[in-house]
Amino acid sequence: MTENPGATVQIDSQPQIATIPTPEQNSKPALPCSLGPVIAGSLAFILTLACIGAAMYLSREEDSVVRIYHFVVAQKAIPIGDRTFIVNTINGDIKGPAIHVRRGETLSVKVTNKLSDSGLTLHWHGFHMRTMQVYDGVAGVTQCPIAPGETLLYEFVVDEAPGTYWYHTQNGVNPSGQDFVRGPLIVHDVNDTIASLDDPYLDPSNRDVVLFYRDLYPNFLGLDLPLWLGGKTAIGDDSVEGDGISSRTFVWTNGVLNGEEQAEIKVRNGEYRFRIINGGDNFAYFFSIDSYKLTVVAVDGNPVEPYETDIILVHVGERFDILITFEIETPTQDVWIRAMTTSEKQDKGIFGVLRVRQNTSVPFSDVTPAEKERPVNMEDSHVLNCKFFDTPQINCHPVTDLVPFVEQTSLNSSSTDTDEAAANDNELVEEIHTIDFDFIERVAGWFVSIDQGTFTQNLMSKLPLIMSLAENETSPHTLALPIHTNKVVAIVLRNKSRKNIPIHLHGHTLEILEVATRKTSTCDKNVCPLLDLTTAFSVPIEELVKRQEGGVLKSTVPVPPGGAVVVRLHTDNPGVWLLHSSVPVHSVGGLALVINVGDFMFSQTDTPADYPSCDFSGRLQTEQVATCTCSGEELGREGLVAKCSRPWTCGE
Ligand SMILES: *[C@@H]1O[C@H](CO)[C@@H](O)[C@H](O)[C@H]1NC(C)=O
Ligand SMILES: *[C@@H]1O[C@H](CO)[C@@H](O)[C@H](O)[C@H]1NC(C)=O
Ligand SMILES: *[C@@H]1O[C@H](CO)[C@@H](O)[C@H](O)[C@H]1NC(C)=O
Ligand SMILES: *[C@@H]1O[C@H](CO)[C@@H](O)[C@H](O)[C@H]1NC(C)=O
Ligand SMILES: *[C@@H]1O[C@H](CO)[C@@H](O)[C@H](O)[C@H]1NC(C)=O
Repeated sequence: MTENPGATVQIDSQPQIATIPTPEQNSKPALPCSLGPVIAGSLAFILTLACIGAAMYLSREEDSVVRIYHFVVAQKAIPIGDRTFIVNTINGDIKGPAIHVRRGETLSVKVTNKLSDSGLTLHWHGFHMRTMQVYDGVAGVTQCPIAPGETLLYEFVVDEAPGTYWYHTQNGVNPSGQDFVRGPLIVHDVNDTIASLDDPYLDPSNRDVVLFYRDLYPNFLGLDLPLWLGGKTAIGDDSVEGDGISSRTFVWTNGVLNGEEQAEIKVRNGEYRFRIINGGDNFAYFFSIDSYKLTVVAVDGNPVEPYETDIILVHVGERFDILITFEIETPTQDVWIRAMTTSEKQDKGIFGVLRVRQNTSVPFSDVTPAEKERPVNMEDSHVLNCKFFDTPQINCHPVTDLVPFVEQTSLNSSSTDTDEAAANDNELVEEIHTIDFDFIERVAGWFVSIDQGTFTQNLMSKLPLIMSLAENETSPHTLALPIHTNKVVAIVLRNKSRKNIPIHLHGHTLEILEVATRKTSTCDKNVCPLLDLTTAFSVPIEELVKRQEGGVLKSTVPVPPGGAVVVRLHTDNPGVWLLHSSVPVHSVGGLALVINVGDFMFSQTDTPADYPSCDFSGRLQTEQVATCTCSGEELGREGLVAKCSRPWTCGE
């Protein structure tokens, strides 16, 4: 594991940058680690080159550091196990480059779309994008997608707390756009060293390891849409083993850890930080490492008091940072890292091998750990983040067990609030809203209700929302919840369906106050009645939302089947921000709305020169009718397409 010394050289502002690897050159670093051939040029830039496949380099001008990447996105056939998957790759690799950036630095990612038929965007999951909403990367809200053959430069100052984030496409449901490209995004503190790495997923000098999970589907790109959306038969399946997807709709077949079917993670005695990221499409995973306790120290980029557990349930979009201290007394230890789906049999999942060596004199070798088939003993294990139904099952602890580490992260602390909010600590919450979700089987779509109003489907306007708002062209059907700026607001999220829904809000951090579950017996096959808000929580909601203690802070919160979650947030970031399920098939099926903070008006003059034009025919895939009246009989696979008049499925 070579640590690149971070050689500093002077080069011209244009030059070798052009040697960025294209997909054809791909996967191997195009820039030699030795940096030999780099030539001194203008004094304007001093570049520190890192030799990683991601074609990252640094541009340093006095104190401001720009971390520059070029992502070329294209389809490629990738062999995984005994199958070949056709996937969207970045620079030819299924393993999206791990971006490392320090707080305060500028991140500059040039994205070139070499897909044949699909638009493309990149969203920075967990980033607030304060004043930089134009780069939030949501097709239909903040931009039109980058059309095939086009390029967009996402460039912004990173003003996020140090922690674990990720990036991914947020682009509706074009055939290949649905197979998101994605990768880890790590923010380091201003003074942290970021070694230039051979493998940016494993930073040996900082003992910092990224564990990035995603699921995979054979011929994903060729999936027909009615199948995605369920269809009559698939949705009827009662087994809930995915993360909001019934198993017959989306059968779990494969997944990868750090781009490999069975990745090897190599460590030596000492303390390591593992950054677990579920960057998948559907499935939640029970994460565990054989023989080890996990000490959780951060969730979704927010530090928490150290919390010991055996297993963590990680839903799509969630991140957990854990610490493990290795102090083996034998020379070697090889154990399984397990990420199992929630299937009762625990027979499906992603395995990795953790290779622990006592010290640097003990070599790494291929040893297959024993007992792969042995399921983790769930009954005797402490499991974090897995509230399902209220029936006793495994030893589940809600994520609200976690306590924010920094005192001032609580929303009752004045330092993060405006004076206005701090002035009335006891009457902190000024608005309470309710957002309910329902999966309507007969149209195989998601419907959303705001403040207990009509259930409706998301309807995007023709232009990206930030622009249509400016032009007063918002469709009356656009599902938007207006909220004032600089308020402390509570939102109750309720789920009628029998699946866990990981809800993600852009632009803001959610403070999780309480997670409520329900008894299985009160649910019908796929549908649960909405929880009664007057009795669902430990105390009445009006009291709960004024609670003084700060709750755990997250950017993505799973809403249990038939359950509810109360969150608080501080609306200090004006803009229109997407609130949606981080399971893509949910959000494109209607489980999405926008929160319009501060009656936001976007100025067209804020658009960058290369802002994608909206004339690409695949620009928006999300336009839907507000209601859909198909009858059950019409819902054959073709029937859904023909009768529900959803342009994205009809191709009208
Ligand atoms: C970073 O280092 C500088 C110089 O040593 C110091 O003044 C500053 O407080 C440090 N910042 C943080 C966040 O540690
Ligand atoms: C390194 O590990 C080997 C194998 O266990 C052991 O024999 C040796 O004493 C260790 N060296 C040090 C410096 O601890
Ligand atoms: C926040 O609430 C907790 C619990 O009541 C209290 O101990 C703490 O002092 C409060 N913090 C601030 C900054 O008011
Ligand atoms: C949009 O409508 C608002 C309220 O009616 C009005 O104040 C504003 O001038 C309009 N903006 C444009 C660009 O027409
Ligand atoms: C609610 O439950 C349904 C069915 O169980 C599920 O499909 C849906 O994803 C859930 N929605 C939310 C918001 O939790």
